[in-house]
Amino acid sequence: MSGGTVVSARASVQPQSTATRSRADPCTMVIFGALGDLSRRKLLPAIYQLMKEHLVDPGFSVLGVGRDDSQTDDTFRVEMRKALDASDDVHGVDTALWDELCKHLFFVSADLTNADDYALVGKRLAEIESGRAKEECNHLFYLAVPPSVFEPIVRNLSKSGLAPRSRTADERPWVRVVIEKPFGRSLESAQQLNDLVLGLFAEHQTYRIDHYLGKETVQNLLVLRFANSIFEPIWNRQWVSHVQITAAESVGVEDRGKYYEEAGVVRDMFQNHLLQLLSLTAMEPPPQMAANAVRDEKVKVLKSIRWLTPETIPQNAVRAQYTGGVVGGKPVRGYTEESDVAPNSSVPTYAALRLYIDNWRWNGVPFFLRSGKHLKERVSEIAVQFRTPPHLMFGETSGMMRPNTLVMRVQPNEGVSLNFEVKVPGAAVALTSNIEIAPVDMDFNYAEAFGEVSAPAYETLLLDVMIGEATLFTRSDEVEAAWRVVDPLNKYWEAHKPKRMPTYAAGSWGPREADELIEKDGVEWREPTT
Ligand code: BG6
Repeated sequence: MSGGTVVSARASVQPQSTATRSRADPCTMVIFGALGDLSRRKLLPAIYQLMKEHLVDPGFSVLGVGRDDSQTDDTFRVEMRKALDASDDVHGVDTALWDELCKHLFFVSADLTNADDYALVGKRLAEIESGRAKEECNHLFYLAVPPSVFEPIVRNLSKSGLAPRSRTADERPWVRVVIEKPFGRSLESAQQLNDLVLGLFAEHQTYRIDHYLGKETVQNLLVLRFANSIFEPIWNRQWVSHVQITAAESVGVEDRGKYYEEAGVVRDMFQNHLLQLLSLTAMEPPPQMAANAVRDEKVKVLKSIRWLTPETIPQNAVRAQYTGGVVGGKPVRGYTEESDVAPNSSVPTYAALRLYIDNWRWNGVPFFLRSGKHLKERVSEIAVQFRTPPHLMFGETSGMMRPNTLVMRVQPNEGVSLNFEVKVPGAAVALTSNIEIAPVDMDFNYAEAFGEVSAPAYETLLLDVMIGEATLFTRSDEVEAAWRVVDPLNKYWEAHKPKRMPTYAAGSWGPREADELIEKDGVEWREPTT
């Protein structure tokens, strides 16, 4: 964007030390799908970090469950050690800490689609917890499994008696069930899954993960908006001209072609991550910082989003697919050349949308959302662009002034920057004519201000489950409200295959059609700051 001078903001207090963050209840975390990608790349590194920061109870254990019957506790530990060594979130594995963690890692082989095998899980749990007080035998079941087996697994888990329905949130010992995205693949299937899950477990013991909610800046959005008085008066249709929400990825579909062909960018990124960013940006202040109060307000926003219809979709939505190009200096192939992708696939890897929120605060303010694979950079941000001053009196330079923009950088370089215009110092000129004006960014960067304190999202979210804090998880009605927004779009696009799929070169910022979409409103996409 501006490329203006940067003025840094420093923290005036030291960050909260980890010692003051709550420590989790004692529990055993049972990972279904423990040898899978999610477990290796995200869950184990998060567990290691929590242990390093003394945030898990000394009696915390992990029971990995997978189909591979050649695995034992020992081989599982070797696999998990490899996962930690390969993780970007762990900077060098500490030997003493690893030795300690090792003592708490166990494995049992079971086919989770077979109800009988749950007895094996129960037996291992009893062995691990022998000698532990009953009220400390809390269980966290983490479903790190493909969505196709969610249904049999939740049924079997409930039937096995290992996860009884909880009556109250403060019941001890507790049982909590964590379900990964995607939660359904349409409104209808999400409703069915919700009916099934809520028929077996209570809402307060069900944690639907959207890992974007564990990111530091996403949480800071609430603090920025509601712990400061300067933003609220201008956070509305009177002062905001439009909002741009970007989640750009530099990676392609990698080895997930099979999943991606079923999902596409709207199910993969919009239904969850982008709509979460939108609802936190647009919601009303909740009466208190409590799970249901925050989620109530988010649901209201989702329900106020104007429905997309077959008549409005062509003017308000763009889809596209990446073709071969260069990303980060390396040549990459196009989407239809990726493995497990049909050569004539019309699944979008990029989408851009214009949405309106039909309520008092946001009436008439467009929210532009975009996300895509193999874009130029990995960057996610929310940019709130304010209206231009009502009267511009600086002669010729007036036309060059840019509107003020508040940017919340979700990743990388988490932070906040405010862009505004200043007078360029220099030779005296008559104040009445052609003052030289330039944009500057007032910048707050988490790492610079507080040191490296941003915990990876899964670390935050796992700790929250163990504490019983549900604010950063999506409630059943919230998931359905989000599906209601994207379902008409998916249905329309799937029924109206384009004659020629719009494309963008890998390594670019997206298709020309997306530029045209936003230009209709007289604005352009920001080049996100990384
Ligand atoms: C996941 C999607 O939910 O989010 C992936 O399934 C995507 O396709 C990922 O790459 C992006 O997450 P992050 O944290 O890297 O922005």
